[in-house]
Amino acid sequence: MLMKPLIFCLALLSACFLAPAQLPTHWYDHAVIYEIYPRSFQDSNSDGVGDLNGITAHLDYLKDLGVDAIWITPFFPSPNLDFGYDVSNYTDVAPEYGTLADWDHLVAEARKRNIRILVDFVVNHTSDQHPWFKESRSSRDNPKRDWYIWKSGGGPKDPPTHWTSIFGGYTWTWDQTTEQWYYHIFLPQQPDVNWTNPDLRKAMFDVVRFWLDHGASGFRLDATPYLIEDPAFPEDLDPPAPGGPAALKPYNSGRPENHQVLREMRHILDTYPGDPVLLGESSTATIEDLAKVYGKNHDEIQLPMDFLFGNLTKLDAATFKKQIDAAEFQLGGQTPVFFFSSHDHPRQWSVFGDGTHNDQIAKLTAALTLTQRGCILLYYGEELGMATMPAADLKPVPLGPKRPRADDRDGERTPMQWNTKVNAGFSEGTPWLPVESNFKRYSVEMEKKNPASIYSWYTNLLKLRHDNAAFRDGSYVPLESGNPNVFAFGRKASDNEVALVVLNTSPAPQSVHITGMPGTWPGFQHLLMASPLAPVPLGQTLKIAPYGVLIAATK
Ligand code: NOJ
Ligand code: CA
Repeated sequence: MLMKPLIFCLALLSACFLAPAQLPTHWYDHAVIYEIYPRSFQDSNSDGVGDLNGITAHLDYLKDLGVDAIWITPFFPSPNLDFGYDVSNYTDVAPEYGTLADWDHLVAEARKRNIRILVDFVVNHTSDQHPWFKESRSSRDNPKRDWYIWKSGGGPKDPPTHWTSIFGGYTWTWDQTTEQWYYHIFLPQQPDVNWTNPDLRKAMFDVVRFWLDHGASGFRLDATPYLIEDPAFPEDLDPPAPGGPAALKPYNSGRPENHQVLREMRHILDTYPGDPVLLGESSTATIEDLAKVYGKNHDEIQLPMDFLFGNLTKLDAATFKKQIDAAEFQLGGQTPVFFFSSHDHPRQWSVFGDGTHNDQIAKLTAALTLTQRGCILLYYGEELGMATMPAADLKPVPLGPKRPRADDRDGERTPMQWNTKVNAGFSEGTPWLPVESNFKRYSVEMEKKNPASIYSWYTNLLKLRHDNAAFRDGSYVPLESGNPNVFAFGRKASDNEVALVVLNTSPAPQSVHITGMPGTWPGFQHLLMASPLAPVPLGQTLKIAPYGVLIAATK
């Protein structure tokens, strides 16, 4: 009679030492999603700006690379003060990017290759040129007045609060026509919408349906922490310096009210076939806050991006381990989302490179993300070792209709490097941004021919993720390397399908003695990938080369 409670206690005890229970899996739980900045991927009509047909032309490239989905940053009509993140029409394609028919064609061609497409949905704000805002600002009693956030404050010189915007200055802009202030967490030309207004909410959800009906497989949601503000709009007693970092204050971000919006949005997705997904730009200050973004009942954002990992800029094994362990053990077993590069982040080849070993370090950081459990985001050109263009090289480029505004993120948005021809094959016109000077060496054309290139390394890693059971389905096994310069971990699909990953983040050779593998140490007789080349690891004690990567498995 005592056996049952005893077994129950033992089961409970062992559960505490294992990774959290795995939730049911979906395509996106182990997907590689490739971010495309459409202005810079491929120009198909020689106007110097990339476009949707340019993406369609390269679907075979993406298939060969091995990605499961692409996320395209905004391609909707926009005054382009924030390059598409200021949307003036959510349900059309900007003329420089093509037409809705081009979108439909892109989706159909991508489907044939089993590639899904995520639309970037800018949910927190519109452009000030959006007809909704034009109406809203036209009079205090306009039916769309409440679709945005208007307050009187103390008159034209005295804003309602002294909250500071992420792009500098206060979050309020005075509007002379109706003599009130409107709220914007980003540029004054990006007024925040009012998600508490039911009509606005319905209009936004219609946008969701529009793109799902047009074949989108989900959305990358922009700026999700900022949807709803503290209704009391309290004054900030400890205001950040104007122009300084402003985000993630309890009154402007991560509000409990956001959850209901995201649940409702997710509910719409769940009524569509094919498991559409929400990928969230959900910066959080802590891992506990990140856990909440998935929703209490896993019914909100399936893939919140882990910025605690993505914002790391120091090549440091111990920090990487800490963040990956946190994502594995403090997110309740949900799917972590790892990335380094993006249209907002300087490219990882430049960030982590030491100027001498950049290519080897690019392979190291690629292995770090692409061998993890979860969803991995790649940024176009990362697979080539594209660099961030230095600001000094960008400055002399004149601003013109193709480059409406200089942006301190231009450096990571330079044209994709396809080949060694003029403009790296990106455009036969004048590219909107110059091509990075390293394109003769780092291009698809050159790197495809070289089995030791960064591109070949990426394709092999992607293949490993698809073909090897430990990397495809395996859980994460935390290990100790006994050396602060080396991050070692395992992936385990079953007792005889185990893999070992060892990463040296230092410029010196390192010795390690790896411990922590549950049960007896499995023999890793198969060296799957290594850079530089290395012998098969025969035991728990091994040597690893400067910035070395070693991936081995039991089969
Ligand atoms: C986040 C986007 O990634 C960034 O590029 C943009 O400037 C802001 N949100 C505002 O939409
Ligand atoms: Ca074009």
